[in-house]
Amino acid sequence: MWQVVLEADAEVSLPAGLSLLFEDQLETGRRLLLLDGAPEAFARFLKGLPAETVVSARKTTGELMRLPSGLRIKCFGKPGPQEIVLKARGAFGSGLHPTTRLSLHLLDRFLLEEGPGFGLDLGAGTGVLSLVAARRGARMVALDIDLQAVQVARENALTNSLAPLIHPVAGGLEAVKGPFDFVVANLYLRLLVPEARKIRALVPRGTLILSGFFREALPQIVNAYGREPQHVVSEEGWAAVLLRFTP
Ligand SMILES: C[S@@+](CC[C@H](N)C(=O)[O-])C[C@H]1O[C@@H](n2cnc3c(N)ncnc32)[C@H](O)[C@@H]1O
Repeated sequence: MWQVVLEADAEVSLPAGLSLLFEDQLETGRRLLLLDGAPEAFARFLKGLPAETVVSARKTTGELMRLPSGLRIKCFGKPGPQEIVLKARGAFGSGLHPTTRLSLHLLDRFLLEEGPGFGLDLGAGTGVLSLVAARRGARMVALDIDLQAVQVARENALTNSLAPLIHPVAGGLEAVKGPFDFVVANLYLRLLVPEARKIRALVPRGTLILSGFFREALPQIVNAYGREPQHVVSEEGWAAVLLRFTP
């Protein structure tokens, strides 16, 4: 099986011996293709594409990610008990961006340690963070201002039989009221800092997992939230933090 990410305008024609298993649209408008066939057929396919349209190409098992708990995220097929099937359909949260991976890593580890609770996924996109939390038994509100993202999150919850645990909500911070046991927010620095007081108020005695900023912005986050992080992880310059407000 082969995974290719192509620029949005790349024209694709499949040579004999190669079949398209799955296609998805990523947050950037780029396309993710999963193909099946012999290495020679895949090489012929790549050769037929203008080089500038190929973002990445590699062999794959179809698995997008494996988390510390052993939970697997894949992009097609049926979800097993320890699996999530995730479709992006143009919403942010395909699993290919470092801030999604970092948030997932901290969230999965947190749930391993603390067990499930009631959580808010602030800026849910595809709902990937809610899906992982719900698979571990948490009840989640998946909030996004983008109506298409809310629809994608709803579909992903249904595909994974997690709809009873995930409540998708369209709107911004004004649409939710705490308290939550935890909030996971993979947003942007331009929101995380000015909205710190409101976000912090959603977890009076809980945990915040924040991402969507570069590591050098960490002092601004610490200053805005008034707490040293218990965990900091980073990848490709991006960072995610876990802040605990438990007494
Ligand atoms: C960086 S994406 C994160 C998606 C997903 N949670 C992930 O970790 O990959 C940020 C998401 O926040 C949403 N968003 C932006 N501003 C928001 C706001 N004020 N309230 C709620 N959602 C917002 C965007 O529509 C987008 O889907």
